[in-house]
Amino acid sequence: MQLASQGTVLLLLRVLVHWDLVQRARGRSAFQGTVTPCGDSDVESEQMRVLKGRTGGDLLVLCNLRKSYGGRRGAEAVRDCFGLLGASGAGKSTTFKMLSGDIAPTAGHAVVRTSSGEDVALFSAGAAGVRIGYCPQQDALDELLTGWEHLRYYCSLCGIPKQHIPEVAGDLVRRLQLGAHANQPVATYSGGTKRKLSTALALLGRPDLLLLDEPSSGMDPCSKRFLWRVLTEEVLEGCAVVLTSHSMEECEALCTRLTIMVNGSFRCLGSPQHLRDRFGAGYVVRVACEEGSAARAVSDCLGLHFPDVRLQGQRLNVLEYHVPRRRDCLADLFRVLADNKTALSIRHYSIQQPTLEQVFIDFAAEPQPTPRAAPGPATSSHRPHGLPV
Ligand SMILES: Nc1ncnc2c1ncn2[C@@H]1O[C@H](COP(=O)(O)OP(=O)(O)O)[C@@H](O)[C@H]1O
Ligand SMILES: [Mg+2]
Repeated sequence: MQLASQGTVLLLLRVLVHWDLVQRARGRSAFQGTVTPCGDSDVESEQMRVLKGRTGGDLLVLCNLRKSYGGRRGAEAVRDCFGLLGASGAGKSTTFKMLSGDIAPTAGHAVVRTSSGEDVALFSAGAAGVRIGYCPQQDALDELLTGWEHLRYYCSLCGIPKQHIPEVAGDLVRRLQLGAHANQPVATYSGGTKRKLSTALALLGRPDLLLLDEPSSGMDPCSKRFLWRVLTEEVLEGCAVVLTSHSMEECEALCTRLTIMVNGSFRCLGSPQHLRDRFGAGYVVRVACEEGSAARAVSDCLGLHFPDVRLQGQRLNVLEYHVPRRRDCLADLFRVLADNKTALSIRHYSIQQPTLEQVFIDFAAEPQPTPRAAPGPATSSHRPHGLPV
């Protein structure tokens, strides 16, 4: 009788201790919380996906991770190459510092998925066999040591056997084009070369998760492309990459998904093409007028044919308009501008689709709440940006 009651109590205790596993077995997410309204349907449905536990092949999942210097929160899951964009001070490096353990989050948590499919807290990832490489925004290099010395030292720290160190270090020197500098002390390196070495150190030991905080800042265009090739190779081999960059070209080249962060929270989410389609619907029209001609006349003429046209800004005698997309809009624009070129003293004009850079500028310059539902192609979800008018 005593044994039976003892056994029942111990079984109950065990169930309580492993309650999270029971929850998972019942198909419920280990994450608790509610969706934080943020004004963007993509970000909110991503939060819902995380909270419902539908994070399938994602290696890193952040749930309501927050650092309060007055900041906000977000829920996000990561696979492939994920871009974290935002103006300076948006909170990108703070997010990385929380992920790398440099600073403790005020709330929320991050989990990584092990190769056996188990979710473990980020701080115990190493013990669970998940390798994380981190390239901080500020290079953590010793000015007196050479590139080779750094690589050899970090190889030892990673536990790479002594006989394999020359091969591993040599491979990284070759892949990141560090050969010409690897024998020189870091004090002689340019900013871009230091970033290459910092990235090489993050890549040591074939990480499962790479956190790269502005890895390409200060790099020349050729070096950037070598870096992109290296990162693409890593992603193809199954590494999950989280990247910040101020180069939209880089994000287009590398990121399968990206978010734009404003004041510590995600304001949009999706592939570069999705963000361009959703937030960049319409055309940007630039009109260069002759000196002394009336800019007002150009605005009036465009307004007559395109009632939704909006003057975005003016630099010297160049006027910039946004025209929402509609059927035959492009042909009409060319026709109206060509017909009135002489009468309006237009020197030249151009019409183009908004770029990802334009979408970024709009978010960074005008942090207004975005529309809740995804608008159709002809709606004006486009926000004005801060060009001087
Ligand atoms: N240790 C700190 N104490 C107080 N505020 C900080 C600290 N570190 C960063 N911040 C502030 O948090 C915000 C986000 O900073 P950061 O993450 O470095 O931005 P980003 O990397 O996007 O440029 C900034 O406004 C910054 O001034
Ligand atoms: Mg930063």
